Amino acid sequence: MFQRSNSAVSVTEHPSCPVNSFNEWDPLEEVIVGVVDGATVPPSHIALKATLPTDQLEFFRKNAGKPFPAERVTAAKKDLEEFVHVLEAEGVKVRRPQPVDQLKAFGTPGWTSTGLYAAMPRDVLLVVGNDVIECPMAWRSRYFETSSYRPLLKEYFRGGARWSAGPKPELRDELYDYDWAETSEGEPFRSVITEYEPTFDAADFIRCGRDIFAQRSMVTNDFGIEWLRRHLGPEYRIHVFEFADSHPMHIDATLVPLAPGKLLINPERVRKVPELFKGWDVFHAPRPIMPDEHTLYMTSKWINMNILMLDEQRVVVERSDEPMIACFKEWGFKPILCNFRNFNSFGGSFHCATLDVRRQGTLQSYL
Ligand code: NVA
Repeated sequence: MFQRSNSAVSVTEHPSCPVNSFNEWDPLEEVIVGVVDGATVPPSHIALKATLPTDQLEFFRKNAGKPFPAERVTAAKKDLEEFVHVLEAEGVKVRRPQPVDQLKAFGTPGWTSTGLYAAMPRDVLLVVGNDVIECPMAWRSRYFETSSYRPLLKEYFRGGARWSAGPKPELRDELYDYDWAETSEGEPFRSVITEYEPTFDAADFIRCGRDIFAQRSMVTNDFGIEWLRRHLGPEYRIHVFEFADSHPMHIDATLVPLAPGKLLINPERVRKVPELFKGWDVFHAPRPIMPDEHTLYMTSKWINMNILMLDEQRVVVERSDEPMIACFKEWGFKPILCNFRNFNSFGGSFHCATLDVRRQGTLQSYL
């Protein structure tokens, strides 16, 4: 319990810290599941153009600053409710962020924006051990996105967790390459962000005990990766990979460690499995079966591999994704099914929609 007289709340005073998660598979005890309420189309900006599916650019241009269609939000919300029930039935404690008014304009001396949503805790918060880190995000519309999680962050801190934040970015025009244009096959990766200041999204990192895998992306620059490396210190090793993806944003539909010695890869993007995984079982995600007519506002169909491990066996998989369900069974996992297609429309699946706040287990090396 936090006591006012005891001004220095030290982690060592709290043997059972409410935040404890070192990898993607230790038995899950507590998780934050996002909310889609109030989801709003962000104002047009070059940083979005570099990541959104081309068939969605017109929708984003026309609807900038307006709420996403109400019927889609309602359908996504229904998926989230089912997901919460599925998790609770599996014995996991579920927490939710507080919806905020995403239509309310905010800004800095250099720019103004409206918000996006609080649907994807994985993007904005990174849990490493007992440290929960608010990320310095590159999209202006996401500048205050952690506000929705503040009540939970305060509670976790009071319970003994560490609470950190990357350097507050300015997000001035100097951060963006306004001349950004598509690259052709074989050309080196061209990011829409510069090295003006450190920025990163949590979802460009995926944890595997002492080793953390990362990618540079349309929102994560070298400066941001270096900030995180120094913040975490010598106990952790951050490995930066480059994949065959000209629009990278979030690693969890590309390379997903499932359990010790078990790796799920996107066979289109991971052309050569990094040497580090020598001796691991490498599973190729089956091709997505999402119908073309199903709206995906922000991602490719490869979010079929954006699964959530509840422990080394149980994995939450989209109910209609028969190839993925069959593969997981064949690979020796136990799929737990949940409808999630309507949520998928908003830019992610089970991994994106969650933040595993507490898993059993300790810091270990798996490589
Ligand atoms: N940007 C990725 C999704 C990451 C969850 C993709 O579109 O495949």
